[in-house]
Amino acid sequence: MSKDSKEKAAGPSHFPRGIFSAGVALQFLALFCLWLSGRIPFSPDEYSICSKSGSIYTVDETNPQVECISIRGSRISYTESFQELQERTRSRNPASRLQNWLMSRLFRSPIRISYIASDAIIVPGLADAHAHIMNNGFKMQLNLDSCKSLTEVIDGVKAYIQSHPDIHRNSSRWIEGGGWDQTKWLEKRFPTAADFDADPLLRGRPIALQRVDGHASWVSNRVLQIIGKLPADVEGGSIIRDSNGAPTGVFLDNAMSLIPAPEWTDEQMAVFFDTTMKVALSYGLTSIHDAGSSPMMIQFMKSYAETGKIPMRLYVMGHVSSDEYWGSQIPLLVNYGKHRRLTIRSVKLVADGALGSWGAALLEPYSDKSDTSGIMRSTPKAISDLVNQFWKDGWQVNIHCIGDRANHVVLDIFEDLIKVGNANITEWRPRIEHAQIMTVEDLERTGRLGIIASVQPTHATSDMWYAETRLGPNRIEGAYAYRTLLNGSQKHILPLGSDFPVEGVNPLLGFYAAVSRLSVDGTSPHGGGGWYSSEALTRAQVLKGMTLDAAYASFTEHEIGSLTPGKKADFVVLDRNIMRVPMEEILGTKVVVTVVDGKVAYGAMP
Ligand SMILES: *[C@@H]1O[C@H](CO)[C@@H](O)[C@H](O)[C@H]1NC(C)=O
Ligand SMILES: *[C@@H]1O[C@H](CO)[C@@H](O)[C@H](O)[C@H]1NC(C)=O
Ligand SMILES: *[C@@H]1O[C@H](CO)[C@@H](O)[C@H](O)[C@H]1NC(C)=O
Ligand SMILES: [Zn+2]
Repeated sequence: MSKDSKEKAAGPSHFPRGIFSAGVALQFLALFCLWLSGRIPFSPDEYSICSKSGSIYTVDETNPQVECISIRGSRISYTESFQELQERTRSRNPASRLQNWLMSRLFRSPIRISYIASDAIIVPGLADAHAHIMNNGFKMQLNLDSCKSLTEVIDGVKAYIQSHPDIHRNSSRWIEGGGWDQTKWLEKRFPTAADFDADPLLRGRPIALQRVDGHASWVSNRVLQIIGKLPADVEGGSIIRDSNGAPTGVFLDNAMSLIPAPEWTDEQMAVFFDTTMKVALSYGLTSIHDAGSSPMMIQFMKSYAETGKIPMRLYVMGHVSSDEYWGSQIPLLVNYGKHRRLTIRSVKLVADGALGSWGAALLEPYSDKSDTSGIMRSTPKAISDLVNQFWKDGWQVNIHCIGDRANHVVLDIFEDLIKVGNANITEWRPRIEHAQIMTVEDLERTGRLGIIASVQPTHATSDMWYAETRLGPNRIEGAYAYRTLLNGSQKHILPLGSDFPVEGVNPLLGFYAAVSRLSVDGTSPHGGGGWYSSEALTRAQVLKGMTLDAAYASFTEHEIGSLTPGKKADFVVLDRNIMRVPMEEILGTKVVVTVVDGKVAYGAMP
């Protein structure tokens, strides 16, 4: 429309400028309609990131490596080659060329293309399929996991008291923390309450420190006094006693509930939660499966979600330690909250304890402690009743099983529900958390039934120094058998997690452990080739385990887990190519940027 014709159409006028604006508005409208009809190949909130070496690993088997991804709003709009991107944005269609020109005048640069460095790569946002968000923040208050002796632990507690004047001043204040692991100490023995009282600064204070696996708590004499009379036995737990029958100060599994530590306040929970989120995003995590939150923690996360304070996707398993059905104590939430990031549709049950504290339930006694076969936290009947009820009410059921007995009992329960109860495996997706020690038959049975094994590769490399001592040469064959589990899986999936704070938050620790079966310093009980390296996974398998498989295990494989057009734009730029660099360089990798819902959540765009 020429200026002349516009004026003509408007007739004689004293306000040609206004009429000119109406013309521009019309153009806008036309543009907007075209835009809506999808004819414009990009929109102002679209951006693209390219890798000249094609190092964008999509975990989408139809298009595994691409040069460019484009993001529109919170979703991936295109994955393509650089040439395809150019052709798409420099359309030959004269109408779109005009639009492109107009858009570029209106919105500065409509096609924002950035390039990652030549060594860098892009992978889908990483998931941790088993972790403990609140406990991680809690532990970071007083973290003892680097201690190499009992003395170092005591010194750590003293330093904590000295750096907290309010606690130093008031000897009634509880001191809590965690991460100790006697298998890493010079002493090797379990600690005692008396070890605290040996130090004048600690004497008389209520102290409770959790073992690294969260399956044991070590308390001071003051705590024993507060508890008062102890029961003779605790079902599904144990109170360690000396030769005179007096408690030494260590409580295992269910016995830990006797410790009357003060409840967390909302302020404490906010600190614990925010601390973990910040650290997790800095390591490229965009989704975490929280392996067990109490109703109190869930209430907290729910209100956080409502106010838009959850910075990544959380798949939370509800947990209440009870044999009574507790489904009604937790809310069923799917894509809940302001950013639709909180989902609670699964529960976590606990079948047994952990290997480090001889609590994993075994079919035969421990090889290094013949008077025990570990601890079942509930009877098979009680577990079965709970599983049935949760299944009927539509909950995914995820059960902590470490020892071969716990795994066997739980597989029997799942198998019964699938075969006799006609539970639909694809709709229900029951999970075994850890699946750590299994008989060879049960490894095969897990996959055949389609039960999801959710495993933590760093557990293999943390436990490898003592696992065979605990289990002996035969049982070890079915322990940490990740390749066997994956190979047997009906759906070819093996979701991977860290179980942080039991292990580090950085998912690359798990990536490295799974492919190398080595400790971070490159050693193993079998030397530099790795511990039972036939059970190592390939890098592609590990990347899929940390992305698409974890998504499957949380019913979100159509929304996240791969860089596929239409899926959520959750991705990470890493500064080196973990799919290619020598194994020992994997752990030096840094996160350049973590993107959730198309927006920077950590770092900066290249
Ligand atoms: C000391 O701490 C206890 C437990 O937190 C608290 O009940 C008490 O009021 C505190 N005393 C003082 C003087 O602050
Ligand atoms: C199980 O559920 C899936 C998904 O709803 C369905 O496609 C499949 O046919 C079901 N299987 C059986 C055996 O009913
Ligand atoms: C993988 O599983 C198949 C059966 O599904 C079996 O025949 C084969 O031996 C297994 N391979 C390994 C390496 O475990
Ligand atoms: Zn756990």
